[in-house]
Amino acid sequence: MDLEQFSLKGRTAVVTGGASGLGEAIARRFAAQGAHVFILDRNGEGAEAVASSLRGNGSGADAVVADVTDEASIKAATDLAVSRTGRLDVMVNMAGIAVTRRIVDLDEALIDNLYAIHLKGTIWGAKHAIRVMTELGIPGSIINCASAAMDQAAEGLSIYSAMKAAIATFTRTAAREAGKLNIRCNVISPGLIVTAMTQRHGVEENGQFSEAKMAAFIDGVKKFNALDRVGEVDDIANAALYLATDASKYVTGQILRVNGGLSMV
Ligand code: NAI
Repeated sequence: MDLEQFSLKGRTAVVTGGASGLGEAIARRFAAQGAHVFILDRNGEGAEAVASSLRGNGSGADAVVADVTDEASIKAATDLAVSRTGRLDVMVNMAGIAVTRRIVDLDEALIDNLYAIHLKGTIWGAKHAIRVMTELGIPGSIINCASAAMDQAAEGLSIYSAMKAAIATFTRTAAREAGKLNIRCNVISPGLIVTAMTQRHGVEENGQFSEAKMAAFIDGVKKFNALDRVGEVDDIANAALYLATDASKYVTGQILRVNGGLSMV
């Protein structure tokens, strides 16, 4: 097998949510494979910390402070990638938040926030990636992020899981519309991976983090996994590398579930 197919040498990627967790792991993996990576996050300090550590390792990396809910910022970020490197090959839309709230306690502000960050943020990322890839005639890859929560009902995650299902459906249409331009659009759907986002499962009612509560939560998830463990950020980075590179050049409109067998659809 030609492992050059997994190379990102000479390619440019934008990773939203790149300051932390899964987005950070993806940005680091892409840089290690030769890409110039734009780490986009509303957490500017975190994005700069990742970018400067990548530059320290000799990779091309820039931090971009932006909120994915704001179309103008996403347009500017994709234009910046092109003006700095002359291209945009890969767009990864990972930025997200999770809030656990039962349906009877939902309010409009929470619904609007989850909608704006997950669905609207993904739409702006895909829209502007398709725009610049089309202008440049580049056969690009767009990777969006769902969650095992879209397959497996979890109490308190009604809006979050609905947004993830919407992202998956949106991605299929994007794949259909952009396919003729040789732009591929796929979804990674992770199971539980311990990151800053999932730490909330270990927080007690008094607001203190408890290792024991977190461990009990992880054990609970493991029971439903075919593989007897939860995931690691590198499991997602590996999946993203596959979808970003020529190794997956005949794959579009798909949902890649990286969840240890938590859900099998
Ligand atoms: P994380 O909390 O470690 O990282 C999320 C990043 O997104 C943070 O750096 C945050 O600043 C950024 N972000 C949030 N809202 C933003 C906005 N409006 N504009 C720009 N940046 C924003 O979380 P994690 O775990 O890395 O999650 C990444 C994605 O993976 C999310 O979409 C999440 O829903 C999804 N996911 C995570 C799972 C897990 O177990 N960790 C499981 C399934 C899906």
